[in-house]
Amino acid sequence: MGMAVPPLRGSIRVPSDKSLSHRIALFSALAEGTSQVSGLLDSFDVRSTLGAVEALGARLALQGDEDGLSGSITGWGARGPGGAVPRAAGGSGLPATASPAAAQTLQCGNSGTTARLLLGALSGFGVAVRLEGDPSLSTRPMSRVTLPLSKMGARFLPADTLALVSDGSAAPAAPDAGDVVPPPDTLPLVVCGSASLKAIDYESPVASAQVKSAVLLAGLNARGTTCVTEPYRSRNHTELLLPAYGARVSTEGLTVSVTGGQALHAHDCAVPGDPSSAAFLLVAAALVPHSEVTVRGVLLNPTRIGFLEVMRRMGADVSLDVDGEAALGSEQVGDVTLRYRKGLVATTVEAHEVPGLIDEVPILALLATAAEGTTVFRQVGELRVKESDRLAAIVEGLVALGCNATIEGDDLHVTSGRRPPRERRLQTHGDHRLAMTFSIAERVFGLDLDIQDIASVGVSYPRFFDDLERLS
Ligand code: S3P
Repeated sequence: MGMAVPPLRGSIRVPSDKSLSHRIALFSALAEGTSQVSGLLDSFDVRSTLGAVEALGARLALQGDEDGLSGSITGWGARGPGGAVPRAAGGSGLPATASPAAAQTLQCGNSGTTARLLLGALSGFGVAVRLEGDPSLSTRPMSRVTLPLSKMGARFLPADTLALVSDGSAAPAAPDAGDVVPPPDTLPLVVCGSASLKAIDYESPVASAQVKSAVLLAGLNARGTTCVTEPYRSRNHTELLLPAYGARVSTEGLTVSVTGGQALHAHDCAVPGDPSSAAFLLVAAALVPHSEVTVRGVLLNPTRIGFLEVMRRMGADVSLDVDGEAALGSEQVGDVTLRYRKGLVATTVEAHEVPGLIDEVPILALLATAAEGTTVFRQVGELRVKESDRLAAIVEGLVALGCNATIEGDDLHVTSGRRPPRERRLQTHGDHRLAMTFSIAERVFGLDLDIQDIASVGVSYPRFFDDLERLS
């Protein structure tokens, strides 16, 4: 359309995987001993997790270069976070539940993974910790983890309860054992862990790796075997990585189980590239004639690359070169090449596919504007509770760009075709994936847009604009 847009060409590495980086930081902190880590993602979100585990007593000796953060993480192991109370399995006779008055505060920034995984991990220790987030994270639902964790025996208090305590003016009303007080749904809140959690068999209403991971991490310190069943399979990094740290985890169909009383032991890891970051560059190449882009060293875990399958169905020319050696025990890694091919067609993304591409819906929606027909993303209501209401924001942004997108119930419909943009100014609502999606739109449609809050790319892909430039 209009003037020719220069193709994207070249071979590139994207920054390390965000989901794995969070887990490596947290599991290394929980473990006994020193883990050597290589190439943790150096982004705002991962720094939130690193800052939190350091504040809780993990010792970090990390240095940054273009491959990310490398060095060592020494865990608190049997001492427990904050050096406070030993693990449940120790049966030390110390108080089983900590006092909220002693809570320290951790900043989770914009990161839902930091908040939800920490809530799970801390639930099994006799500590009281206050978690805070930025304005976006402070609106996101936490009851999806605080509910199951309460059933296991952890307590959650609204943070204002703690303010009363620090004033010395009132003590928090400790609920009686029989009381059913719904746990708070939003940050800031105080998690009061318990060294005597009991295992649960939890059927999660949402397919969420954060929920699954939070419950499993609590399960490591609970009496009995904790099981989590999800409606569809979400990313499985926690269950693949915990065994590398020495914990036995079993998966049967959509159920993952862990038996309590298992200690983690240090493990050395190198982190492959983030497929969710690669997706922006690959979709850009699929939209500009004569493009050919190879992204090297990308994590190719099947629960993460649903977007590649959808791109193929739409007619994109995607090829994979899988490395012989798996990384991190059982995670697949390899190179992905996208050669531009014309004639993209619409597809339907079914509900069961959504967890495997949840973070790629914004950029796939942009691709769908160039695919003949109407592409439907079914049951993507989860997008409403991401770093922004991504469902509304995708539609708002695509419509501003002159494209056709609507919300039908919980489905997103995108129909091919594009008129001139209605507006230059695009709102990202501070959401990194929207900032990158609209920046790709600007590049591939040859526009000059005024995209708001683009600094949010630092949440997951700090050198995004440099990498995009490098392929031009
Ligand atoms: C993540 C899980 C997903 C994803 C997020 C990272 C993880 O969230 O959107 O970016 O690392 O576990 P949900 O588990 O809430 O779907």
